[in-house]
Amino acid sequence: MKDKIQAWIEEMTLEEKAGLCSGKDNWRTKAVDRLTIPEIWVSDGPHGLRKQDGTQDHLGINESNPAVCFPTACSSAASFDTDLLYEIGEELGKQSKAENVHVLLGPGVNIKRSPLCGRNFEYFSEDPLLSTELGTAFVKGVQDQGVGTSLKHFLANNQEHRRNTSSSNIDERTLREIYLRAFEKVVKEAQPWTIMSAYNKVNGTFASQSEYFLTEILRDEWGFEGAVVSDWGAVHDRIAALTAGCDLTMPAALDTDNDIVKAVQDGSLEEAKLNQACERILTLILKSHEAEQATGTIDLKKGHQLAQKAAEESIVLLKNQDNILPLQDTQKIAFIGKFAEIPRYQGSGSSRVNSWKVIPALEEVAHKAKVTYAPGFDPEQDVDDPALRAEAVKVAAEADVAVIFAGLIEQMESEGFDRKHLGMPANQNALIEAVCDVQPNTIVILHNGGPIEMPWLGRVKGVLEAYLAGEAVGGAVVRILFGDVNPSGRLPESFPIRLKDTPSYLSFPGQGDQVDYQEGIFVGYRYYETKDVDVLFPFGYGLSYTHFTYSNLQVSQKKATAEYQLTVSVEVTNVGEHDGKEVVQLYVGREWDMLGVHRPLRELRAFKKISLAAGETARVTFELDRKAFSYWDVEAHNWRVDGGVFQIQIGKSAHEIVLSEEIEMEDEFIQGFARYTMLSTVGDVIRHPAGAKFIEEAAPIMMKNLIQLGFINEEQLTNREQDSQAMNGLPLSVVKGLVAEYENARWEDLLNELNEVDLSNDSEE
Ligand code: BGC
Repeated sequence: MKDKIQAWIEEMTLEEKAGLCSGKDNWRTKAVDRLTIPEIWVSDGPHGLRKQDGTQDHLGINESNPAVCFPTACSSAASFDTDLLYEIGEELGKQSKAENVHVLLGPGVNIKRSPLCGRNFEYFSEDPLLSTELGTAFVKGVQDQGVGTSLKHFLANNQEHRRNTSSSNIDERTLREIYLRAFEKVVKEAQPWTIMSAYNKVNGTFASQSEYFLTEILRDEWGFEGAVVSDWGAVHDRIAALTAGCDLTMPAALDTDNDIVKAVQDGSLEEAKLNQACERILTLILKSHEAEQATGTIDLKKGHQLAQKAAEESIVLLKNQDNILPLQDTQKIAFIGKFAEIPRYQGSGSSRVNSWKVIPALEEVAHKAKVTYAPGFDPEQDVDDPALRAEAVKVAAEADVAVIFAGLIEQMESEGFDRKHLGMPANQNALIEAVCDVQPNTIVILHNGGPIEMPWLGRVKGVLEAYLAGEAVGGAVVRILFGDVNPSGRLPESFPIRLKDTPSYLSFPGQGDQVDYQEGIFVGYRYYETKDVDVLFPFGYGLSYTHFTYSNLQVSQKKATAEYQLTVSVEVTNVGEHDGKEVVQLYVGREWDMLGVHRPLRELRAFKKISLAAGETARVTFELDRKAFSYWDVEAHNWRVDGGVFQIQIGKSAHEIVLSEEIEMEDEFIQGFARYTMLSTVGDVIRHPAGAKFIEEAAPIMMKNLIQLGFINEEQLTNREQDSQAMNGLPLSVVKGLVAEYENARWEDLLNELNEVDLSNDSEE
């Protein structure tokens, strides 16, 4: 393949090479017929195929070929099931292949920094581990079919407001621990064929023109081997983009192809850079065609069944007072709310799928039970309609139980803009309250792409969060309502009580084009748990029709070094009467250390979804490596394990820890990085055993000298706590000045030892 590509590059004219680096139209690369270089076709993504054979657009306006609409990412993430994400990817890969699509534009692993982001429905989570694990599985699923993916939107595209011009201003540690981390494992383990660079700037430079992110981190550090494709219209300077490592500018950009030709001619762009981009694009093209064997048929029915299974795995039971659910088919049931008839199951914008078959809950329920129905509200707009409400109240009052299908309307969340509040439409809230006035047995089914306020929560007995669960949501909801499926989804994000409680409240969506990520690493539950802020429902939360208990937590070692691979296992028992699935969540916790490195109270470090029959017990085992304990050290520009006590916690959510064991980690020293200098303080130095020993010996000498100089007197020495606090703040350089008895070499030896410099040669001399 390499030789063929080299030969092509040698034969291509400068114009042909420049032309290859932008699209032919919205969805294709340019073919070079003279050299038999074929085109390839890319399509959105991520939860269904949007292949447009007719009029093209990247905003989800024009028609596309019918395709299965799977649950959107906010929903499939709630499955916490990597195998499921692989299966969805696999099915999408097959469908892409049958449609002759070479690259599917997804998945999106951007972090949900604020629940308001209009595109949160397309992203997995507020947690980087969950995002990266699900993203990895999805990419592998698609690519194992010989179809590429485009991991997006790299990087820090966490809002829609001014997405084309704003700068996400993020400190180094936060970038590493939260925003980059969501992408890192996907790149390293699944090697997506392409990565889509984002619209926004990061720390002042357009993500699509940033050499630091596209070359230094993505390629040099993480080993990315594919091509970088710009988001549609994200490149403002073709030369800067190519120099940075953005290979393919999408969509068509004919006029700026000439800029590249001119830049090579006048020497402002090295031709080698252009050749490199061509090499990557040609590799992508060849790879795509090597794998090509379009079958021409898509089994949409099979895809729909998988979409239903995915929805069933992802719907979250948030409340089930008095075991109101599952319903009995002998009950008089009223379905209320237009979403029972026309569900909201996907979001708006570029990811919009022309769904193959949408079966609403109202239609599906006919196989189960006879229900009465009233639409209750207008799903197109938030207008008060007392007549519709009165009709719904009447229907609800005549039933044993009312099931209200509610949520956000399309105008409230979409690609292109952010939400302004967490409220549901007022007409729907009013409807729920009015039904509760007449019907004590009320259940709400929610269709929404992100967290909402639930002012009526205390009045209803049941809540099912269906998110935007794809075209088969109706079947999934009905099967859960009647107990054919035991709900097993868990929230992949925190549901705050009020918008004002959210960590990014004061800086989202920024001022003008400056978006300062002031909350730093304290995103989502990392903030709520550390700060002890109540939420409506925590990250990882979800109920089941059965109950699980945990016991016998085992940790392979109580004291460990950074290199040690820790094995943690725990027994889970289904103590209820229904078979069910549990998401076992492992968090690593750390007490707040005001004077040390600030770390979240706990962080998700592993999870596993398991299936247990009623009465069954299973032992679940996790392996934890150093990354589970480390933080990003901004001085070393590296991951580091800081020594001390950590808690290994098993949680039913980020807030409810059921078992915990302490382990002690040794402080990790990074070879080749001089962490300690003469400006390090005594307090820092004594964290190291050698430093503690040194100071223990030096401190009395310093005190003696201080007395001699008349700076302090003997009596003051008795106030030990104050002395040591003040001393902890002194840099070594000051201490050195007060311990004249020590030779310079002694201080040098100390620093060498602290920085773990190999001293063996010196001692031999
Ligand atoms: C979106 C991308 C999408 C592209 C092509 C852009 O507006 O941000 O996610 O893949 O359009 O439709």
